Amino acid sequence: MSLLECVGLTKSWGALTAVDNVDISVKPRDVVAVIGPNGAGKSTLFDLIAGCVGKTAGRVLFCGSQVEHLPDETLARRGLSRTYQITSLFQELTALENVRLALQASSNRRLRPMFSRDFVLQTESDATYWLDRVGLRSHRDVVAKTMSHGDQRLLEIAVALAVKPKLLLLDEPTQGMSLEETRSTVALLKSLLDEGDMAVLLVEHDLDVVFGLAHRIVVLDRGKKIADGLPSDVREDPAVQQAYLGTHHAAS
Ligand SMILES: Nc1ncnc2c1ncn2[C@@H]1O[C@H](COP(=O)(O)OP(=O)(O)OP(=O)(O)O)[C@@H](O)[C@H]1O
Ligand SMILES: [Mg+2]
Repeated sequence: MSLLECVGLTKSWGALTAVDNVDISVKPRDVVAVIGPNGAGKSTLFDLIAGCVGKTAGRVLFCGSQVEHLPDETLARRGLSRTYQITSLFQELTALENVRLALQASSNRRLRPMFSRDFVLQTESDATYWLDRVGLRSHRDVVAKTMSHGDQRLLEIAVALAVKPKLLLLDEPTQGMSLEETRSTVALLKSLLDEGDMAVLLVEHDLDVVFGLAHRIVVLDRGKKIADGLPSDVREDPAVQQAYLGTHHAAS
């Protein structure tokens, strides 16, 4: 069974149809990249899947049930977690506090037990583990807004991973990273994918990252899906070359 099934997903803002009748399915352990020129509808697609914007038409099924109406923490508990194109960290809080908040929000506990000593210690230890996992252990007590851009992006990944998602949506995780930071982020994602049974749906402009990670590539152009297949097939697809690859350098 598919983990995620988007059927006829559509979002219009007035006359503009940002996502136009898109079908996408993601199976457990799949790594699917969504590519396309600026404004193709990639982030809107993520917003629709995560329920941040209301759809105009279509359905989003996660583990077989419709999820578009659910709040973030309920989605996280069900196993769907995301990062944003523009950072969504709590800027005034430390790295540890950011990860701990995600753990607490998704824990399904009422407020009182949340402050039990065992719970606080457990979430602190889990949060430290995830900081360690993304290479930010030494930034545990550093306030997010003082961290470098690349480290903030890694912290967002740690926040998203902490809820142990079945499906992780990553919106341009390497955007603004140096070449070195991009390489180590790709290595980190590969090792996480090797270890667990998480699936990833990834929006990414850096085609080296896309071809290095994705099992399948979906191409959007002006809201429509114009290709969906193996990286080798998509690379050769004339419509894709026309719509995206040919304009990639101008678009990025
Ligand atoms: N809240 C909104 N109201 C109106 N139009 C919007 C809104 N959000 C996005 N759009 C429009 O929808 C289209 C798709 O935008 P979206 O951000 O999904 O593209 P994208 O593929 O993620 O682009 P990029 O590669 O630049 O991140 C664009 O034309 C954008 O201007
Ligand atoms: Mg976007």
